[in-house]
Amino acid sequence: MIPESFIQELLNRVDVVEVIDKAVPLKKAGANYSACCPFHNEKSPSFTVSPTKQFYHCFGCGAHGSALSFLMEYNGLSFVEAVHELAKQVGMIVPQEKRDPSQPAPPSKAVMLSLQETLLQTANYYKAELKQSPSAIDYLKARGLSGQVAAKFQIGYAPAGWQNLQAVFPQYDAEALEIAGLVVQNEQGRRYDRFRDRVMFPIHNQKGEVIGFGGRVINPEDTPKYYNSPETPLFQKGHELYGLFMARRAIRDAGRVLVVEGYMDVVALAQYGIEYAVAALGTATTPFHIAKLMRQTNEIVFSFDGDNAGRTAAWRAVMNALPAIKDGLKLRFLFLPAEHDPDSFVREFGKEAFEAEMDKAMPLSQYIIQHLSEHNPLASQEDKVQFLNDAEPILKQIQAPRYAMLLRKKIAEMTGLGEGEIRRMLKLPDPKKIQEKAPRQRARTPLSLHVRLALMLLMRPQWARMELLDHVLGESDEAHMLREVVKAALAKPESRPVVLLQIISPAISDMLRNQLHRELSLLDESLDFTLEFEGACTQLSDMALATRDKSLLGKLTEKPFSMLTAAEREALRQLTSKR
Ligand code: UTP
Ligand code: MN
Repeated sequence: MIPESFIQELLNRVDVVEVIDKAVPLKKAGANYSACCPFHNEKSPSFTVSPTKQFYHCFGCGAHGSALSFLMEYNGLSFVEAVHELAKQVGMIVPQEKRDPSQPAPPSKAVMLSLQETLLQTANYYKAELKQSPSAIDYLKARGLSGQVAAKFQIGYAPAGWQNLQAVFPQYDAEALEIAGLVVQNEQGRRYDRFRDRVMFPIHNQKGEVIGFGGRVINPEDTPKYYNSPETPLFQKGHELYGLFMARRAIRDAGRVLVVEGYMDVVALAQYGIEYAVAALGTATTPFHIAKLMRQTNEIVFSFDGDNAGRTAAWRAVMNALPAIKDGLKLRFLFLPAEHDPDSFVREFGKEAFEAEMDKAMPLSQYIIQHLSEHNPLASQEDKVQFLNDAEPILKQIQAPRYAMLLRKKIAEMTGLGEGEIRRMLKLPDPKKIQEKAPRQRARTPLSLHVRLALMLLMRPQWARMELLDHVLGESDEAHMLREVVKAALAKPESRPVVLLQIISPAISDMLRNQLHRELSLLDESLDFTLEFEGACTQLSDMALATRDKSLLGKLTEKPFSMLTAAEREALRQLTSKR
């Protein structure tokens, strides 16, 4: 653990404006700075950085945080990595971390550095060897690669022979070579190079450091076709994605990332102008992969080969993605014709055709429904029960409230049940509870829906509408507060926040004033956060609907119809006719 006091001191020393400005050029706007948000696509800037608060905030997507969280989100670093990076920028030394004595000691910094150095030297050696090897060059040419693209991906060649690395590392028995996965030792104690007579693809981490290799045979008789570095202290396959470092800019520009299966797919796509592709490294995509990609973009398109293996891999990707999904993330699935992989497809049909296929890729919810109903005609009661049984584990894994709601609605439609009924039948947690949990998982959206809406209405009272009052249910403090704010805004739509606060009861306005200072002092009057507001309104009405569904259906089972009020009967009639 890095001591909290160090992190505080670090944050005191850095300037968030400087840190962000390096990555996203900022413009001065009043007391603050602004830019188009790097975390979502937009044309007018809603991303604001406050030098006094040392905070950034985006009114379009809700991203916000400190210099540390910016580095984590923008560069996809872990917390510890971000602390180190920031410390480096201001010349501070991160104190020795206390470690859990039950865990094995991690390799020392010196060992890690020597591993990195070893891998870098090896990559340079392979690159130089490629220039010396006509057969490797011919192979790459035959696969249609330009010298430019080979250079971009730093492709190299490991020559045939057992101990070529001895020429690079005179201390061939150095432990680092073995830990780095470059040298293997057999039972007789003989050491030899892991990669021999292979085209070498260096694998980079997000900082661009070489952390491992994939090697492809040139001779089609050799096996295995691809050979990868083993897991090492620097390289965990389930965490890394091939090509991510090279693709970062393009992912941001395109607003999406394409996940493919192979090294050559990434390289060939880049050659044809699709530079935002990455590949999982011979493993299924993991939740870590998804989380990592989600820090870079909100649209992920998976491309799988059209064959059976591809379909199995696609479904596995779905199951792994489910726990990592957040609302607002677009996940889509592209199935190429069975005889193609992305490499062969882009070669044959080109960039436009490939991107046209991507645009048609199937959204996750549709894919889930299709998969569930593939062998289920939903004709009998038994079919429907089976369908719900299959859907259950999927629904239970989705933490994103609106995503889960959407899927439940679809499933409700298909089975002829109510959305609330499905939730109770499958004993799914109430969406309100999920919502309270969500902010703790991510630094974003720290405020509850009610408070967010209230704050936005204080800033933009002209947006208030009567129907909001119908959607605020319950007697909680927050519900009272939101009702008061809506009423005040409806009464004085032209007022500034301070004036509105004066017509709200003192207890509530004190609470809001504090929040307003904490959160919205960053707010620039000119910013447009319509989207966030509309999203929050929909969420509120969805919640109200779900709650009403539930209580109404509850009454139906408890009370005889004759005991229901006229309004309840009318609502019930509407509910049942909807189905
Ligand atoms: P594929 O077998 O689909 O090969 O493996 P490919 O990507 O089309 O390769 P080319 O076009 O023949 O060169 C997809 C991925 O699975 C892993 C590699 O990461 C490969 O890129 N793989 C495959 C291995 O790790 N080992 C193997 O022996 C084969
Ligand atoms: Mn291929």
